[in-house]
Amino acid sequence: MKIGCPTEIKPQEFRVGLTPNAAKEAVMHGHDVIVQKGAGVGAGFADADYTAAGATIIDTAEEIFASADMIVKVKEPQAAERKRLREGQLLFTYLHLAPDPAQTKDLIASGCTAIAYETVTDNRGGLPLLAPMSEVAGRLAPQVGAWTLQKANGGRGVLMGGVPGVGPAKVLVIGGGVVGTHAARIAAGMGAEVTVLDRSLDRLRYLDDVFGSVFRTGYSSQGLLDEHLAQADMVIGAVLIPGAAAPKLVRREHFAMMKPGAALVDVAIDQGGCFETSKATTHAEPIYEVDGIMHYCVANMPGAVARTSTIALGNATMPFMLALADKGWKQACADDRHLLNGLNVHAGKLTYKAVGEALGIDTVEAASLAA
Ligand SMILES: NC(=O)c1ccc[n+]([C@@H]2O[C@H](COP(=O)([O-])OP(=O)(O)OC[C@H]3O[C@@H](n4cnc5c(N)ncnc54)[C@H](O)[C@@H]3O)[C@@H](O)[C@H]2O)c1
Repeated sequence: MKIGCPTEIKPQEFRVGLTPNAAKEAVMHGHDVIVQKGAGVGAGFADADYTAAGATIIDTAEEIFASADMIVKVKEPQAAERKRLREGQLLFTYLHLAPDPAQTKDLIASGCTAIAYETVTDNRGGLPLLAPMSEVAGRLAPQVGAWTLQKANGGRGVLMGGVPGVGPAKVLVIGGGVVGTHAARIAAGMGAEVTVLDRSLDRLRYLDDVFGSVFRTGYSSQGLLDEHLAQADMVIGAVLIPGAAAPKLVRREHFAMMKPGAALVDVAIDQGGCFETSKATTHAEPIYEVDGIMHYCVANMPGAVARTSTIALGNATMPFMLALADKGWKQACADDRHLLNGLNVHAGKLTYKAVGEALGIDTVEAASLAA
């Protein structure tokens, strides 16, 4: 198969769909890999790294889209890229179609076969191609929160770990899933006093078993939340109710009882945010203040650490990318129901029920299309 990797063109996107190591594996499997000139630069990979891996560097995206059997990317194809997709071509990338009717319409019209990273599943009921980005965002949250807490940035002027004789910062993490667990680990590692609240007792039991006294856990009731908000120097929002907008757990009226200059890091902003006052920000201007409380609400946090994110995503996508290239999508999806769950569009038809329901478009059963 000819595997093509174009440069990402979405603003502020520095990741790349294929790492040189993934390209090398594909070449070792007998495939041709073509990579657009400079595609890896944002993530710290030079063209020479790809040629050393056995890939060929191609000047333009047009040439990549025109000749590749499979396009491997990071972000959903932008309008200009969608025009280049063609019938029979395989697209493997994040799509997030449900809130994006224009993209859905274009993918259906293109006749391509599109497999979305975010709907590929695993045996434990997880989303293995979303998890690496949640791990990155979770580990980054205390780091950006600590920066937000600095006086010059409008924060309370509190050091995460304190110093001898001065207590550490108090960090509240709301939601103890992938993001919350990684955030709590790092915040505790920085020396902060950390509490994680979740609604799932099973999850709280797991966190308690695995992490012991590294951080505390609590059941996420409004009463306990209010108690912790009054004490917190930093609050990290990491809740997710699958398929729904994030619940607004912290409201503006809470700010009056919070410490002035406390930092809110709303990682759940990509689902609308779990603080009432959250609005999405960018890496260029990540923070703003409301009633003396500092907010950090960057919707694509992993972009700040494009190299780590690219490698983490590449590790997770590589086995699926190789299966698709080795067997073709039909056989690969027939052999792996979790990969089949990634199929969103094929030959002019939508194949993912939840997207069809969200957009009012008829769908065909993905399983009926695999080999
Ligand atoms: N901003 C970014 O760059 C970025 C990057 C990655 C992930 N995210 C987002 O972070 C959020 C969390 O992702 P995740 O992978 O950790 O999800 P997850 O499903 O692993 O965890 C979510 C947790 O929230 C808990 N929860 C639900 N309702 C709650 C409530 N009322 N109080 C407390 N806990 C509650 C759930 O029990 C679950 O444990 C998602 O919205 C995800 O899209 C954002």
